[in-house]
Amino acid sequence: MNWTPDSWRTFEALQQPLWPEQDQLDRVEKTLSTVPPLVFAGETRDLRQRLAKVSRGEAFLLQAGDCAESFDGFNADQIRDKLKVILQMAVVLTYSSGVPAIKVGRIAGQFAKPRSNPTETVDGTELPSFLGHMVNDLPFSDADRRPNPERLLHAYNQSASTLNLLRAFTKGGFADLHRVNTWNSEFVAQSPSGQRYAQLGDEITRALRFMEAAGISSHHPEIHEADFFTSHEALILQYEEALTRKDSLTGDWYNCSAHMVWIGERTRKLDGAHVEFFRGIHNPIGCKIGPTATPDEVVALCDALDPDRSPGRLTLISRMGHQGVAEGLPPLLKAVRESGHPVVWACDPMHGNTFTADSGHKTRDFEHVVAEVAGFFSAHKEAGTHPGGIHVEVTGDDVTECVGGASVVETTDLSKRYETMCDPRLNASQGIELAFRVAELLQ
Ligand code: PEP
Ligand code: CO
Repeated sequence: MNWTPDSWRTFEALQQPLWPEQDQLDRVEKTLSTVPPLVFAGETRDLRQRLAKVSRGEAFLLQAGDCAESFDGFNADQIRDKLKVILQMAVVLTYSSGVPAIKVGRIAGQFAKPRSNPTETVDGTELPSFLGHMVNDLPFSDADRRPNPERLLHAYNQSASTLNLLRAFTKGGFADLHRVNTWNSEFVAQSPSGQRYAQLGDEITRALRFMEAAGISSHHPEIHEADFFTSHEALILQYEEALTRKDSLTGDWYNCSAHMVWIGERTRKLDGAHVEFFRGIHNPIGCKIGPTATPDEVVALCDALDPDRSPGRLTLISRMGHQGVAEGLPPLLKAVRESGHPVVWACDPMHGNTFTADSGHKTRDFEHVVAEVAGFFSAHKEAGTHPGGIHVEVTGDDVTECVGGASVVETTDLSKRYETMCDPRLNASQGIELAFRVAELLQ
């Protein structure tokens, strides 16, 4: 198919930094092309098979994590707390829906951000926008905003150490279902969704005890370990290319920077560099679909990204906004269904629902998030297609970035703990509450 890991270079790549030092970038790319892979081809094939189940309605995708990971304050507790909330959301979804929740983190590589404007002007000074810690830094100074290729190496190293800990937590006993009640953080335990979660945890604990008493062995890896996959928006193509390796078993190319990677709303141009790069890697991939996408365009993306119509290969992540979903999504579902592409449809109820609060903070309203998911479910019901999953920005911390939820965050609370590097995330209680609301829709 005339593809090589670097064939994207002859296409227009949107949202790329203006790297000041070409030599330095070349050196970094060379280093990255020899470092060990972060994930293995076999693991990505495993995720692809699970996503094939999602496309048939036999499993549900939970993709969740930071809008942008940070190099600052990187520590083990933060990784553990993010993992906890994702495990909790997955338990709620699995228990209520009766189908497995496939856990994919926006983690261990989610360091690059596309922006609406390439530059930012403050008091008459214009500087490059913050593009994520893989590229530059957040403070508004010339030095901080200057793209620095060394950051690509830092991103790789932090991803490696994050993944190392995730593998230890998920395979080393922490994610054992017998410990379901220890995943509630202190502040979550006091919230209404945390209390609801604790009840569900008790039910699971009783069920496990009953099984053991009845002589049914609970010594299954499914009970003692969790399967957890990583993902990020593959935006900076030099980084993604350098970590793309040929699998010795199949001879196919895999992007070994994450199990799953996705194309953002701003870079999904059919004749652009991102689509070119993605079409050749064999990972399961995602593509964001926003309100301006036309049915023809979406089918053309499916043709380009999944010409073989292979279930599990392509996840379309719709992000229409709570007001746009009822009108915007049905024509796309119909066109894709009629085209015969067996895609997974997931709902990102975050990126179409961002607004600026009176306090000046960029925020999202919890009820808008739920409303978009509800609209997503009704559109699928109408179309006879599967609502395959959700894609959300959530953190394990007790932040105040999105308003609403049962332990209400008010606009006046936003300044208390507004810590995101980029978009407002649900805090852990809001995340678990969302899982309960989605579970009700799934039933
Ligand atoms: C994101 O997922 O953080 C993002 C930028 O989304 P989108 O490409 O849908 O705007
Ligand atoms: Co975001």
